[in-house]
Amino acid sequence: MNIGVIGAGYVGLTFSACLAKMGHRVICAEKDRDRLATIKEGILPFYEPGLAELVATGVRQGNLSLTDDLKAAVGHAPLVFIAVGTPSGTNGEPDLTALEEAVDAIVSAANDDQVVAIKSTVPVGTSEHVSTMLARGGRSAHVAANPEFLREGSVIDDFFHPYRVLIGTTDAAAARLLSTVYHPLACPILVTDPRTAEMIKYASNAFLATKISFINEIAMICERAHADVAEVAAGMGADPRIGQAFLKAGIGFGGSCLPKDLRALGALARRYALTPSILDAVIQVNDAQRQRFIERVEILLDGLPGKTLAVFGLAFKGGTSDLRESPALAIVDRVLTAGAIVRAFDPAAEEAAKRALPVLHCCPDAYEAAEGADAILILTEWPEFEALDWGRLRGLVRRPVVIDGRGVQVASPATRAGFAYFGPGGAIAHPRSSGASERPHAFRSAERTTSG
Ligand code: UGA
Repeated sequence: MNIGVIGAGYVGLTFSACLAKMGHRVICAEKDRDRLATIKEGILPFYEPGLAELVATGVRQGNLSLTDDLKAAVGHAPLVFIAVGTPSGTNGEPDLTALEEAVDAIVSAANDDQVVAIKSTVPVGTSEHVSTMLARGGRSAHVAANPEFLREGSVIDDFFHPYRVLIGTTDAAAARLLSTVYHPLACPILVTDPRTAEMIKYASNAFLATKISFINEIAMICERAHADVAEVAAGMGADPRIGQAFLKAGIGFGGSCLPKDLRALGALARRYALTPSILDAVIQVNDAQRQRFIERVEILLDGLPGKTLAVFGLAFKGGTSDLRESPALAIVDRVLTAGAIVRAFDPAAEEAAKRALPVLHCCPDAYEAAEGADAILILTEWPEFEALDWGRLRGLVRRPVVIDGRGVQVASPATRAGFAYFGPGGAIAHPRSSGASERPHAFRSAERTTSG
C-alpha cells in the first residue's frame, strides 16, 4: 500500500521504516530540512539501536523515501499518518501547531476518501477537530486516532511486537484500512471511538508514571524502615495483578512523554474544573526524587563544594541519547551549581549533553570519568555499567563510593572491588574484602542518617 507519514521524529521515522520493512511504499515528510538532510546521510538526529540501518534498507530497496514536501507524502497515498511533535504549551496543554500545519497540507493535497490516522499524542477531542478542519477545507477524509506505544531505545521491537494496537474511529472505512495494515503484527486490535482512544493513550502513560512515583514513595519509606525496595518491588510484582514492570525505584521518570502527558491530562481535568489529585501527586513525588538524591549525596560526602563526582549516565533512560526532561541532567545541573566538580560519561548522550549544558565536562569513557572521583553517581540505567571493570575503577577513584540512582546491577561487582554501594531505597552494601574500616567516617554517619 502507498502510505504517507508526516514527521520524521522518533515515531514518524520508526513507523516509516517499519512500514517499509512490511512491504509498504512509504513517503515520509519532514519540514525541518537540516534534520532531513542528516537522516538522508544515514545519520539519525538521535540514538536508536537498529533504526539507521532499517531506514537505509528501506531507502535502498525503494520502499522508503524521505522528503521535505508534505504534499508529496500526502498526495500519493490512501493512508496518511500524522506523527508530528505535540510539545507542552501553556499551562501544560499540548501545542498543536505542527499538527495543524500537517492538516493544512492534507487539505491542500489530499485525495478524497483518504484515511488520516493521528499517531501524535493529542488531547481528547483532537480527532474531531481534525475532521472539522478537513471538512472545512472541502475534504471528505476519514479520520482515526491511532496512538502509539513505542518506547525509546526499543522502538523497532515495540513496533513489530506491540501489546495492542488502538484504532479510535467511528468510521468503518478507516477502521478497516488500518486493521489491514496492522493485521500482520498478530496482536489485539482494539477499536474504540476517537475520544476514548485519545484518553487510553494519556491514561496509559499516566498509569506508568504513577507506578514509578508509587515505588519511589515506597523506597523513601524503605530507607527509614530498613527494607530493600528492590525486593519489595519483586515481591509485589509477583502478583500478576500488580506486575513487575515500572516498579524500579530511583531518581524518577523523565523523557518527552511521561512528564508531558501527565501535565496534559492534568490540564484537561482542570479544563473541566476537576482536581487531578493523583496526577498532581505523581508529578510532585517525581520532582522531589531528584532533590532527595542530591541530599543523599551531600550527606554521604559531607557536602558538595569541591567534591569530584563521576556521573555515569545523562540520558533520561538507558538505550537513548535523549535528554528531554532527563532527571540525570537536572541533578548534574544542581550539583554543579552547588559547587561540585562533575566528570560525566554517557554511552550515547555526550553530544546532546554538551549542547544542553556547555559547562559540563564529558569524558569518552567511564574510566576517565572516574579519575580522582569522591563518588561515582549512576544516573541512567545503561546495561553497559553492569559490565564495567570495577577493579579498574577502584584504582582510579579517590574514594570508593557508588551512589546508584537507578538500581542497576552493580552492587556485587562494585563491593567485591572494594566500593561502598548505596542504592535506591535503603540498599547499602559494603566492601567484602577490604572491610568497613576503609570507609571514611562520613559514610558511617551518613548510613545512620539516610537509612534510619
Ligand atoms: C513512554 C511509554 O513507556 C511508551 O509506552 C510510550 O509509547 C511513550 O512513552 C510515548 O508516549 O511516546 P519512553 O518515554 O520511551 O516511553 O520511556 P519509558 O520506558 O516509559 O521510561 C520513562 C522514564 O521512566 C525513564 O526516565 C525511566 O528511567 C523511568 N523509569 C521507568 C523508572 O524510573 N522506573 C521504571 O521502573 C521504569
